[in-house]
Amino acid sequence: MKTKLFTLCLLVAFASGILAQSAYRPTEAIMKARSEFQDRKFGIFIHWGIYAMLATGEWTMNINNLNYKEYAQLAGGFYPSRFNADEWVSEIAASGAKYICITSRHHDGFSMFDTKYSDFNIMTATPFKRDILKELADACQKHGIKLHFYYSLADWSREDYPWGTARSGRRSGRPNPQGNWAAYYQFMKNQLTELLTNYGPIGAIWFDGNWDQRAGFDWGYAGLYSLIHTLQPSCLVANNHHGMPLDGEDIQVFERDLPGENHGGYSEGQGVSDRLPLETCETMNTAWGYKIDDFRYKTKKETLHLLIKAAGKNANLLLNIGPRPDGTLPDRSISLMKEVGEWMKANGETIYGTRAGSVAPHEWGVTMQKGNKTYVHILSCEDKTLFLPGISKIKKAASFADGTAVRFTQTKEGVILTLPATLDEIDTIIELTH
Ligand code: GLC
Repeated sequence: MKTKLFTLCLLVAFASGILAQSAYRPTEAIMKARSEFQDRKFGIFIHWGIYAMLATGEWTMNINNLNYKEYAQLAGGFYPSRFNADEWVSEIAASGAKYICITSRHHDGFSMFDTKYSDFNIMTATPFKRDILKELADACQKHGIKLHFYYSLADWSREDYPWGTARSGRRSGRPNPQGNWAAYYQFMKNQLTELLTNYGPIGAIWFDGNWDQRAGFDWGYAGLYSLIHTLQPSCLVANNHHGMPLDGEDIQVFERDLPGENHGGYSEGQGVSDRLPLETCETMNTAWGYKIDDFRYKTKKETLHLLIKAAGKNANLLLNIGPRPDGTLPDRSISLMKEVGEWMKANGETIYGTRAGSVAPHEWGVTMQKGNKTYVHILSCEDKTLFLPGISKIKKAASFADGTAVRFTQTKEGVILTLPATLDEIDTIIELTH
């Protein structure tokens, strides 16, 4: 009995030792990078690949059951003659966005960068022969914009990638359902090594495609994540798996929904981390990749409300553009960025570097805080006064737009603001000084 108990204790000690060892302990560099990422608040997502030529979104290969060998032939015609990385990045910088996340390789398997590990790439398979990611990396350095890489876990073109669930990649004609996982896994590691070696400092690797394999499938994340953290100790790891963060991840991602909401259908039951930075990705129109007939753009107001509400929920907004096959950005994406940029220029101070305020988001809007300030963002309110529960003593309340004083009363329960007679159509910001 005693020996049994002893063996059990040993086992428990051993197991907890393993767990303790395997648990990810973020370094100081990562903690700093996480907080800087949170400070940036707004990024532009770019879905671009050879699918732009078919102009029906980035899932077109799967939706239309396109054969992988035939699809690959498209690359021979990919020549984005009007691509100008500097122009893109200056437009993006002027929008107030502080980082870009671009698809280095999407589910179709085409690599938008110079890679030794697949010929299906921008340098070898296209007449363009310019490393798009390198040009963007240089432009980002120049404009002080952080660069993140989206990296697909699923691949509808490689024979070594195991067939996914019924949802994807089964009808592309790849012969072997089992694939060759070891080879594919090594391929991903090789490409990630290239991405983290040849393009300067990378802010984050953003994985996508977890949903393609059955629940419980072992993607070997620990190996991928530690490779990333080893190659670039300040590079954050994000994974759009629609769940709570897994060990080794630094950002929790939400697809088409603000944290804690599920209108888009991807966030059912998805909890919200109170430890990690949060990021919501959303499209400007409805598609991620270029879709020629998609003009259903969000208005300036809708876009700004999304950004402000995200910040009020402590999340960044990653707002997507699908560039055209010629390398230009769709007109409305450019004008929308301008509109957002103008607003951010005037009001960005109340967004960048903030964290969610102590007053939870309400129908009327959200609060953010930074240093001794609380910013109350009133997005829609019919009432003449606004009660902010739990806000302790404040020294001053003023309109952020013009500095005029805002009347307030303090009670034991909080602060009551008397709202200005007319509210701004987009956002009335009241700055409280503590
Ligand atoms: C989904 C889609 C993909 C898109 C991504 C962006 O996972 O499969 O096409 O890149 O969402 O969040």
